[in-house]
Amino acid sequence: MNFLKDKKILLIVTGGIACYKALDLIRRLQDKKSNVECVLTSNAQEFVKVITFESLLGKKISSNLFSLDQEKNMNHIKLANNAEIILVAPCTANFISKISNGVADDLATNVMLASNKPKIVAPAMNTNMWENKAVKNNINNLKKIGVTVLSPQSGKLACRTKGKGKLMDVDMIVENLNLFFSEKKLQGKNAIVTAGPSIEKIDPIRFIGNFSSGLQGYEIAEALSFFGAKTTLISGPTKLMPPSNVEFISVESSDEFLQKSVEKLPADIYISVAAISDWKARNISKNKLKKKSTSTSFDFKLSEDVLKSISTHKKRPKLVVGFSAETENLLSNSKKKFQSKKCDWMIANKITNAYGFKSEKNKVFFIEKNNIEEWKIMTKRIVARKLVKKIVSFFKNYKL
Ligand SMILES: Cc1cc2nc3c(=O)[nH]c(=O)nc-3n(C[C@H](O)[C@H](O)[C@H](O)COP(=O)(O)O)c2cc1C
Repeated sequence: MNFLKDKKILLIVTGGIACYKALDLIRRLQDKKSNVECVLTSNAQEFVKVITFESLLGKKISSNLFSLDQEKNMNHIKLANNAEIILVAPCTANFISKISNGVADDLATNVMLASNKPKIVAPAMNTNMWENKAVKNNINNLKKIGVTVLSPQSGKLACRTKGKGKLMDVDMIVENLNLFFSEKKLQGKNAIVTAGPSIEKIDPIRFIGNFSSGLQGYEIAEALSFFGAKTTLISGPTKLMPPSNVEFISVESSDEFLQKSVEKLPADIYISVAAISDWKARNISKNKLKKKSTSTSFDFKLSEDVLKSISTHKKRPKLVVGFSAETENLLSNSKKKFQSKKCDWMIANKITNAYGFKSEKNKVFFIEKNNIEEWKIMTKRIVARKLVKKIVSFFKNYKL
């Protein structure tokens, strides 16, 4: 459904290599019959021409704070007040830093400060810039002050490297904007998502862990929150930044995953994406274990089965979903887990070098009682969206 019709959207375009994609974005928003106004920073105009934007929009665009012509009616305040939402795409590291610190030294930053409307930024930059601590801090700060961040994706970048920093797909930006205006279909629902690896200590400096990146769980938490669910993300150690509008709880061991999950009950939705270790040390050594020539074995015991504990808990959420990562016999192993863990759905994901733990893509099977669906290889972001749409229909039918 199109919720963007007649919506007043102010698009701020900042000076990055992905500026040209803003034209495509405007086109898609026009297709949705949105009413788009546009501001280009002066550095954006080094990459694209004002006239191209004006031709596409069929109206003048604003770019200068100190233009008598534009400012005789306090244009910067008007622009801020007239928009129902402000979208910054692409958003540079520089602009992120400025708006995170309340800098107001040009038209675009003044509009951002003067507006009390919802704001969404879609960053695009070189991977090292995106991973720079200063940028990370600024992004976290933006999230804290209520700005929604559409995380960039991985791919080939203009600087001829491959990595994270590519502007989110224009279609996805439009879908997110549409969702923003849509009726929040999971409003009133509480969701818990676990993500990332667990860390089971052996001694003060060593642990057993795994290669889970956490990305799939983070994407699901973000998608749930976009659909209006009050979402808690319980995560093992990852390199990822928590999504906007999600309560974030950091944990390490299987015991902590379970403890924090139980503390968050009751909930409507529980999605166990974390790769939680099946074993933990019977005793964690107080001191560093010393190398012995006589023995190379460690004493482990089974760790808590977090998913099963939640599935069989007296405060069991209405919908419990597990993820089953396998390197072989994917379907038969996952079906067995589906039975034994007593969850409602199981997502079986194949772990290979090409997709699974270390990749942005996933190949999954969706398993429920009497039904198995094979989903084609897709990004974890799309897997998350597809899953959350299924959750929406589950609750629609659940009410009947
Ligand atoms: C060729 C070129 C490409 C650039 N691409 C990006 C980019 O993709 N992302 C980014 O954050 N900065 C990029 N920059 C740096 C910004 O242009 C610079 O930080 C500028 O001050 C941004 O201004 P603005 O945020 O006011 O638009 C690029 C610079 C050059 C010269």
